[in-house]
Amino acid sequence: KYHNKEFFLERKFIQKKTKERALYSHKGNYGHVMVIAGSEGMTGASTIATKAAVKSGAGLTTLISCEDALQAVRNFVPEAMWKKNDDSQGIETLMGKVNSIAIGPGLGKSNETLNNVKRVLKNTDGTIVIDADAINVLEGKTNLLKEAKGNVIITPHPGEMARLTGMEIKKIQSDRIEIAKEFAREYGVIVVLKGYNTIITNGEVSYINPTGNGAMANGGMGDCLTGIIASLCAQGYSPMDASCIGVYAHGECGDKVSEHKFVVTATDIIDNISKTIK
Ligand code: APR
Ligand code: MG
Repeated sequence: KYHNKEFFLERKFIQKKTKERALYSHKGNYGHVMVIAGSEGMTGASTIATKAAVKSGAGLTTLISCEDALQAVRNFVPEAMWKKNDDSQGIETLMGKVNSIAIGPGLGKSNETLNNVKRVLKNTDGTIVIDADAINVLEGKTNLLKEAKGNVIITPHPGEMARLTGMEIKKIQSDRIEIAKEFAREYGVIVVLKGYNTIITNGEVSYINPTGNGAMANGGMGDCLTGIIASLCAQGYSPMDASCIGVYAHGECGDKVSEHKFVVTATDIIDNISKTIK
C-alpha cells in the first residue's frame, strides 16, 4: 500500500490539514471564488454550488450566470456577489483576480460552455475545478487541459469519466484507481473520481475516501462538492489538500445527517458543512 502511494483518507489526517481561522483575519485572507454555473431552466445547480462555496468558508464568492440563475442566487444566497454572463470584459478582468474558479454545474452542453472552459483555462492562474457540463464538453478535446495556466481539478462521476476517456462505465468502475491515475498523469490534473470510495489522485499520490453513503445519491450532491472544493482552494489549501478535505468532509457531513434521515440532499449538506469542517 505504502509503496504504491495509495492511502485511505483518515479523519486524523484531514483534521491535521484543516486550519483554524485566525482572530486577526479578514475576508481577504480567505480568498475569492468565482462560480461559473447555471443556465435557463437549470438554476438549482448554480445556487447549490455558490451556497456551498459560501458555507465552506471562502472570503468572497461571485456567481457568473444568466439572469434566471442570478435571480435565484440573489434570493437564496445573499452573501454571494454576481455578474451577468454577457459582461465578457468584466468577467475576464475578475478571472485574473480570483483565487479559484468552479465551472460546470448546470451550464448545459453548449458551444458557449466550451468557450467558457477555454477562457477559464487561459485567463486564470488560480485553481480551476471542472465539473459536470464543463467536463462533458471536453469529450474529444481533453488536450485543452494541457493549456491550463492554473492548477486543474476535475470531478467526474463514473459516467462523465467514461465520456471523457471514451471507455465504458463498467471498465472505469472495474479499475477506478488506475484509470484516474493515468488520466491525471497524462493531463497534469487532479482527478476526483466520484461515487462510493471517491478516488483523489494527482497521478503520483492517490487517496481513497471512506466517507459518504447511498442516502446522498440524488441530484445536486455533486454540485455541492464542487463549491466546497473550490472554496477550500480559494482559502489557500493546495489543490490536493482542498480535494481531500472537501471530499472527506462532504461525505462525513452526509454520514452524520443520514444517521437520522433516510435521504440527504445538497441543502442538508449546505446546512451542515460548516459544522462538519469545524
Ligand atoms: N456513497 C458515497 N458517496 C456518494 C454516493 C454513495 N452511495 N452516492 C453519491 N455520492 C456522492 C458522490 O461521491 C459525489 O460526490 O455524491 C456526489 C454525487 O455527484 P454527481 O454524481 O455529480 O451528482 P449530481 O451532480 O448531484 O447529479 C448529476 O451531474 O452529470 C452531472 O449535470 C449532470 O446534473 C447532473 C448531475
Ligand atoms: Mg454532477
